[in-house]
Amino acid sequence: MAVDELEELYRRHLHAGRLDQLRTDGLDVIVGRREGAKFEDLRTGRWLWNCHSNGGTFNFGHRHPAIIRAVVAAFETADIGNHHLPSPWRAAAAAALAATTDGNLQGVVFSSSGTEANELAIKLARFHTGRRGIIVANGCYHGTGLKSMAATVGLARRLGFDDGDFTSVDWNDANALSAKLDSSIGLVMLEAIPATSGFPMPSAGYLAGVAEACKRNGTLLLIDEVQTGLGRTGTTWSYSQDGITPDMLVTGKGLSGGIYPIAATLLSDALFETWSSSPRCHVSTFGGAEPGCAAALATLDLVNDPELGPHVAELAGRFASAFTDAPFEFRQRGLVMAISTDDPNGHWSTWRRLTARGVFTMPASFDRRTVQFKPPLILSSDDADAIALAVREALG
Ligand SMILES: Cc1ncc(COP(=O)(O)O)c(C=O)c1O
Repeated sequence: MAVDELEELYRRHLHAGRLDQLRTDGLDVIVGRREGAKFEDLRTGRWLWNCHSNGGTFNFGHRHPAIIRAVVAAFETADIGNHHLPSPWRAAAAAALAATTDGNLQGVVFSSSGTEANELAIKLARFHTGRRGIIVANGCYHGTGLKSMAATVGLARRLGFDDGDFTSVDWNDANALSAKLDSSIGLVMLEAIPATSGFPMPSAGYLAGVAEACKRNGTLLLIDEVQTGLGRTGTTWSYSQDGITPDMLVTGKGLSGGIYPIAATLLSDALFETWSSSPRCHVSTFGGAEPGCAAALATLDLVNDPELGPHVAELAGRFASAFTDAPFEFRQRGLVMAISTDDPNGHWSTWRRLTARGVFTMPASFDRRTVQFKPPLILSSDDADAIALAVREALG
């Protein structure tokens, strides 16, 4: 299909305003063929390094052969299955996911998006604690369901979906959060490192301070690792580097390697008991669809590869040393990275300069100085060096 025709159909049937906005912002790339760490821009025919990875969806690159093989094999015998009944696919995928948490989060509820996984978590927290109040942090993004959008406070206020159950505090301020905790607060939900705010890094002790305060107050702690999980920070979950274990963990995006949608909410034993004994407050026809479970199993095999952590550390070190004297702020935990400049509106121009050099990133919506910089974890050392060089050529 020609680009003009595609745009006409998009404009007519999908979202005319979005197309105009992309044009205005200069984000005029259309994804064509894709393989490994790169995709083709249909407009220009150029192949770009995918250093956005769709927020971590393509942690293992595009169309990873092991994940494709697993899903194709699953289709020999499976379809989405029946979500009312036990399924060997769901059971195996749940056990594999639970095994990534050192025995701490053994309950698993599958869904088909990060939004849905957060919605379930919010409902379950209310059932479990009997409290309605939720504390969230400014600049964290949790999705676009009614409650998950309310948890994304800036967006909710702007669009009129704010909700009296939510109180927001600044991210990275454990004292401010602690001061808001009282007997009405059942849940604190935070991103491990807020993606949409351009990955500001947590100060030492921040999440540990929050976890301790939650515990004292009988409040549940949910960590949203939709963007940071599954090996990207060098450990399977970012939270383990902060020395905490949450009561609930949300994962999505990269869980299927970008091949078939699946997300999950992982639960502590206490929450799992509530989940298992409460009315069915969440039912999802597509949640844990069997091909998605096959994709998740194959992805978790890649995540569990003992070589992955050292590989991520090696790549991360290459970027860190390439950018030590760069004229921009470089934020980093493993391959969760961002590039921030002094220009208060600079993310579009940074994005354009990087794209012109073949490096596709993504402007951070909640921090207009910053672009998210998340290459796939499967880069070779030479790939990382080539990308780092292109970034320096683009930005100095
Ligand atoms: C941290 C975080 N949580 C939740 C979500 C929502 O996930 P989904 O788009 O799959 O609903 C996103 C999506 O970008 C996210 O980045």
